[in-house]
Amino acid sequence: MWGASTASYQVEGGNARSAFWDWEVKKGWERSGDAARSWELFEKDLSCLKALNLNAYRFSVEWSRIEPEPGRFDEGALARYAGWARRLKEEGLRPFVCFHHFSEPAWLLRGHPKGWLDPEVRVRFLAFVEKTASALKDAVEDWIVFNEPMVFLVSGYGMGHFPPGRWMFTDIHKEFNPVLVKNFCRAHNEAYELLHRLQAEANVGIAHHISALEPAAPGDEKAVADWDWFMHRHFLDLTKDHMDFMGINYYTRIFVHKSRVPFLPMGVVPGYAEFEQGVTPFVFRLLGGRRGGRPRTGMNWEVFPEGLGDVVRQFWADYQKPICITENGMASAPGVDRGDFLRSHLESLAQAIRAGADVRGYFHWSLMDNYEWGSYKPKFGLFSRDRRPSQGSEYYAGVAKNGVL
Ligand code: BGC
Repeated sequence: MWGASTASYQVEGGNARSAFWDWEVKKGWERSGDAARSWELFEKDLSCLKALNLNAYRFSVEWSRIEPEPGRFDEGALARYAGWARRLKEEGLRPFVCFHHFSEPAWLLRGHPKGWLDPEVRVRFLAFVEKTASALKDAVEDWIVFNEPMVFLVSGYGMGHFPPGRWMFTDIHKEFNPVLVKNFCRAHNEAYELLHRLQAEANVGIAHHISALEPAAPGDEKAVADWDWFMHRHFLDLTKDHMDFMGINYYTRIFVHKSRVPFLPMGVVPGYAEFEQGVTPFVFRLLGGRRGGRPRTGMNWEVFPEGLGDVVRQFWADYQKPICITENGMASAPGVDRGDFLRSHLESLAQAIRAGADVRGYFHWSLMDNYEWGSYKPKFGLFSRDRRPSQGSEYYAGVAKNGVL
């Protein structure tokens, strides 16, 4: 499958009932506003997908639209999403529907301020999944329960970056892993069972954020293994028996260092670009941070195509689940060509396939420029927000048509 991915909050616009809407104000973020207006312009999105010769599209449904108040479901919203799925099928594209791409209704967190620490939230989520899947199942068989569960939990509950804005990172082994991650995994597993009860042919997975990890210095191998467990494997180990395919979102490589500050979690200071940007270069080096030498995208993420093949080989060998690349892409940056980025990442993926990995599809992030959780500056799109093709789209359209890199 050749596809592209989007997420409801990032493209639809006007999602005023999401917890992110007021959060943007609270955090002083750029407002998401109308985003790419996909709620109204789905047919234009479909034209973009067709111009790229794609045969699959991954989008997410917005919980706060479908259930605007607790227990009240909006049949109009459900019908609209079901209509999108039908149109995709009519045009020869396979819809992959994601239930949870970071955004949740504001009412959920008002009623349950502890969020996913509260088991009631899981029950609410499952009711939303059941209602939505029942409305869409005539046109959809491919489901993604959670997008990047660990990124969501670390952002919302680890470091206060997403709603509900909790700071639990310093005592990660207390409530974070044993309660929060477990509740989330249980929600995934129950959603899996539910979807299979509703639909015999359901194909259910997740979109898991997996980075290539390397030790920042000799002696950091244990720190790498800890981080790999925490960010990648813990969730997979608890859900692998409830997964028909493993979606991988791959972007870059990260250098991991054992911590030089006792209060930091897991004993690691990862070489994330975000972390690097948040401290002075002196502090970054002092804490053991290391950056790779390759060109960087608009997110300051290092372009590291080999990592995609490595990650695929590794996770195929360890979990033996059919793999889909559910996200991979770059924010535009001077001197980094999206066509080259695509070619090098697809070559790396092809090598993993030749080595025996069962890879079913590649979904580029993203179909069009969108709201990058706080800013419109990073431009990930194969199209602009007004649906003009951007750099790399011609190349990708050729690959999708001919299967030749
Ligand atoms: C997320 C997207 C995000 C992208 C680029 C992924 O972590 O799923 O929502 O836009 O990366 O940052």
